[in-house]
Amino acid sequence: MHKVIEPNILYFGTPVVLISTKNEDGSANLAPMSSAWWLNQSCMLGMSSRSKTFQNLLREKECVLNLPSADLVSHVDRLALLTGSNPVPEYKLQQGYRYEPNKFETAGLSQQPSDRVKAPRVAECPVQLEATLTQVHDFSPPSFLASIEVAITRVHVDKKLIMTSGNNYIDPEKWNPLIMNFCEFFGLSGKLQPSRLAPIFRPIPAK
Ligand SMILES: Cc1cc2nc3c(=O)[nH]c(=O)nc-3n(C[C@H](O)[C@H](O)[C@H](O)COP(=O)(O)O)c2cc1C
Repeated sequence: MHKVIEPNILYFGTPVVLISTKNEDGSANLAPMSSAWWLNQSCMLGMSSRSKTFQNLLREKECVLNLPSADLVSHVDRLALLTGSNPVPEYKLQQGYRYEPNKFETAGLSQQPSDRVKAPRVAECPVQLEATLTQVHDFSPPSFLASIEVAITRVHVDKKLIMTSGNNYIDPEKWNPLIMNFCEFFGLSGKLQPSRLAPIFRPIPAK
């Protein structure tokens, strides 16, 4: 049985990403977001064009997508309702946002230099993806949202997550992403059933 409803949000559950970018003055900005998906070596990000992150990305054309594991939830939550924009846009003031120039410190996270981009990585995140801007697509007006296509140029993964049978594969049994599900944080609640897609990408075990 189904019922027709009119939900305010349609956030059906996506991984949280901490995007680090460089500000005009060379300092780093860090923003949580969760409208992200990957295909091949690219990622599509859904961001407000009024965020500092979007403005930094447009100017610098590069960023790092840091993926927190579920156990970093309290650090991620400390970044909520903060912006690197000064002054804070009026609509964000009304939502309770405040300007924070030192988001790494505020979140209790540490900066780690990147290899190929100027924005720093988040040392505590087990997955860190250096990326460059490819294209920006605006959502239809009056929306201030944009989808941002980035190309992943460098992948850093905590050694503990790499499959023992293949160096270039992240073990899905060990990776526990932080998921935003209808604005609430979730981890993976356990394995359901084997995916028929997995064998296509899984490495052949070393003999
Ligand atoms: C868990 C979480 C997920 C979020 N997801 C998004 C998102 O997908 N897109 C977006 O534009 N903002 C998202 N936000 C809100 C941004 O973090 C917010 O706009 C913030 O001010 C951006 O920082 P900045 O202005 O310094 O770039 C999310 C916030 C949290 C806490």
